[in-house]
Amino acid sequence: MSNWIRVAPLSEFPQLGARVVRHEGKEIAVFRNAGEDVFAINDKCPHKGGPLSQGIVSGNTVTCPLHGMNICFEDGMAQAPDEGCVGTYPVKVEEGVVFLQI
Ligand code: FES
Repeated sequence: MSNWIRVAPLSEFPQLGARVVRHEGKEIAVFRNAGEDVFAINDKCPHKGGPLSQGIVSGNTVTCPLHGMNICFEDGMAQAPDEGCVGTYPVKVEEGVVFLQI
């Protein structure tokens, strides 16, 4: 059964930045784009496990800090020509607070 967990107020997320949520052994990167959209994906690059939360956000993708693979927030897929994907999680913002469904 999945639950919504409170992460933090949206105002505490830097634009084009991320926070890491640790939950039951998982590390989940919760990103904010240049606007007020938030996304959550596993904080582990499908290539060699790089910390995606430390990557550079552009639009709705993040570039892995280790070797430059681009990962889409919406579906977790690596962008061509690379291959692979990471798990994604539903997120919502209610009354200015970010929630993550695990
Ligand atoms: S570990 Fe992310 S691109 Fe290599």
